[in-house]
Amino acid sequence: MRIIVYQNYQLLSKKAAQIIASQIILKPNSILGLATGSTPIGTYKNLIKMYEEGLIDFSKVTTFNLDEYYQLPIDNNQSYHFFMNDNLFNHININKENIHIPNGMAKDIDNECLNYDKIIDNSGGIDIQLLGIGNNAHIGFNEPTINFNKKTHIVTLDESTRKANARFFSSLEEVPTKAITMGTGSIFKSKKILLLASGKNKAKAIYNTVYGEVTPEVPSSILQFHQDVILILDTEAASLLKDKDYEVLNEISKVR
Ligand code: PGA
Repeated sequence: MRIIVYQNYQLLSKKAAQIIASQIILKPNSILGLATGSTPIGTYKNLIKMYEEGLIDFSKVTTFNLDEYYQLPIDNNQSYHFFMNDNLFNHININKENIHIPNGMAKDIDNECLNYDKIIDNSGGIDIQLLGIGNNAHIGFNEPTINFNKKTHIVTLDESTRKANARFFSSLEEVPTKAITMGTGSIFKSKKILLLASGKNKAKAIYNTVYGEVTPEVPSSILQFHQDVILILDTEAASLLKDKDYEVLNEISKVR
């Protein structure tokens, strides 16, 4: 596990975008795993800027998103379909046919989940998976539980997750109680994983991800077993880690 710590969210976002851009430059038909939530927004802004500057081309890129709320219409402005269009896809030259997001409105949810994993596998697998992390250490919507979920599945959201996400809705009651998420196993199959965390409220989850017991009670802890994981943190999210375990970068220019 490589841990990179920046002084602030802006630098963290720029670095994450640089890593994703490098992946696309190296392999124009890359398969990207994408995430929603507030953390990746800065990364997407930087990617859009690089696209506008002609540095990256998304025309051959394929994407798979981690999750989607169950039974929230895709034109609802809180759906992750809406989020992705608004924060990334509407601003780049991605081929819409190459975009994959679980369909929370599917009539046959079991089939939707089964199919999602199949399409990922048939694409050759995810080259780089972008992740945020919940305060409860969830990745995607894999909430703390007694077993690691291997495959894409429907999940009942933790109350803590619904409360954390209520800030995007007008009330807690409006936050869906269920979602479809790629399983921990589906995420783990990605060739490279890039996890971003910003802010003090993520410090404990990051501590447990890095040093804790590997357990489905801390879903992100499974990443300790993955051979190619980069954590990009700001100083607040890294505040419980031991300095010796990471490199601190103050200036993005140092990594150019
Ligand atoms: P956040 O969510 O980026 O909005 O903090 C992350 C997550 O819940 O995975």
